[in-house]
Amino acid sequence: LARGVREPDLAGRHVVVSAGGTREPLDPVRFLGNRSSGKQGYALARTAAARGARVTLVAANATGLPDPAGVDVVPVGTAVQLREAVLKAAADADAVVMAAAVADFRPAVYAAGKIKKKDGQEPEPIVLVRNPDILAEISADRARSGQVIVGFAAETDDVLANGRTKLARKGCDLLVVNEVGERKTFGSEENEALVLGADGSETPVPHGPKEALADTVWDLVAARLG
Ligand code: CTP
Ligand code: CA
Repeated sequence: LARGVREPDLAGRHVVVSAGGTREPLDPVRFLGNRSSGKQGYALARTAAARGARVTLVAANATGLPDPAGVDVVPVGTAVQLREAVLKAAADADAVVMAAAVADFRPAVYAAGKIKKKDGQEPEPIVLVRNPDILAEISADRARSGQVIVGFAAETDDVLANGRTKLARKGCDLLVVNEVGERKTFGSEENEALVLGADGSETPVPHGPKEALADTVWDLVAARLG
């Protein structure tokens, strides 16, 4: 096959990819957010479609990225909305890849009107509550037997040990661990990672385009789908 043309090894499969980063509103004009660009999740969606899959892309605030051709894009804002969309799409999915950066916390209170300064007064502290852990939930409560579930994690320090601990805690089948550092991960076109399997496997992915990491993820998913 020509370079860039894949065998349709995911034909007949439905895969769900979450991408981007959730935004948790404080008031109508402000939110708590993160720096996820959505590029890795979009690369996963494009490569899965190129390999023949039906793809649902749950996209959290991935503004500026074009909808991949032939992919069903479901836009969401918050972690709670992302959970709803992922659970719905996962019901008949063969694989779910959680590439989105989900906010761990959201403001406990949403102010319906814009929060204003008050003369001579210090600001009120922002109280946060936990968001649902979507990856742990879909892993513990599989919509279909044999469904392959993949998580992503950005780690510093002991990347391997942190990754193994997280994989076990989440209960997913594969965890893509990125080492966070200069010129890596956030907003960049390239990525490098270690993919850990619940079966004990370790697949290093050298520095390269996000498409290459995406193809390695789908190779590992396809092998587990049988
Ligand atoms: N994730 C999720 N729901 C959350 C938080 C994270 O589904 N509320 C998913 C992410 O999409 C990612 C994986 O879990 O695939 C790991 O995210 P990470 O933030 O590394 O995990 P946490 O359990 O939140 O751990 P940490 O305290 O290190 O942030
Ligand atoms: Ca987190």
